[in-house]
Amino acid sequence: MIVALNNKSNLTKEEFLSYQEELGKITCASTMILCASPLNIANYNLTNCHWGSQNVSKDLVGAHTGEIAASQLKSYGVEYCIVGHSERRQDQKETNEEIAQKIQNLYAEGIKPILCCGETKEERESGKLIEVIEQEIISATENLTSEEKDELIVAYEPIWSIGTGLIPTIEEIEEVFKLINNLLPNTKVLYGGSANDKNIDELKQCSLIEGYLLGGLSLKPENLKVFIEKLEN
Ligand code: PGA
Repeated sequence: MIVALNNKSNLTKEEFLSYQEELGKITCASTMILCASPLNIANYNLTNCHWGSQNVSKDLVGAHTGEIAASQLKSYGVEYCIVGHSERRQDQKETNEEIAQKIQNLYAEGIKPILCCGETKEERESGKLIEVIEQEIISATENLTSEEKDELIVAYEPIWSIGTGLIPTIEEIEEVFKLINNLLPNTKVLYGGSANDKNIDELKQCSLIEGYLLGGLSLKPENLKVFIEKLEN
């Protein structure tokens, strides 16, 4: 199992340092990946977590003010990077083409991408679910080698579920996971969207889920510990 933690734009330096101390106490058989906000990457100091980033530049190192290049992430020991999170697709108007470029840049540095995909409530209700997921996956992966496709991690995150406390039914999750598994047969697929220590028993019923991308829960080490215990037992 993979447990990826997406801190988003949370935790000042001081808060992050004490958070990291709490996180360091968690024992976990799963692969835990910490994706802190960019400045906190410089303060990574854990042995029970792999180090991740929430984003990477679509450009290479050079004259791109405010951007962080894949090679710079690499130099800080980053091994994984989230790409195409719905908040970036919506707020920064990130396109499928840019996301495909980011994945190429990450692979060029040996960093594993965690590609997010997911539909809005409106897209689901208007019957566009399959079209949206297929387009997000295919456009991001069509230029990858089969080895790169196998190395990729995909996170299915229904946008209407992120931070809302709502989760899809197991049948709804399975429908999308089967679609992704058909497109990318050897790729690990995670679920993300309001997963927590209360609903993990229900989510666990879906045998296709190979791990979780956690936003809100990532900021609560006590609850995260309970989540991991329930996940692994
Ligand atoms: P959430 O966020 O767990 O707070 O819903 C998940 C995510 O946005 O990756």
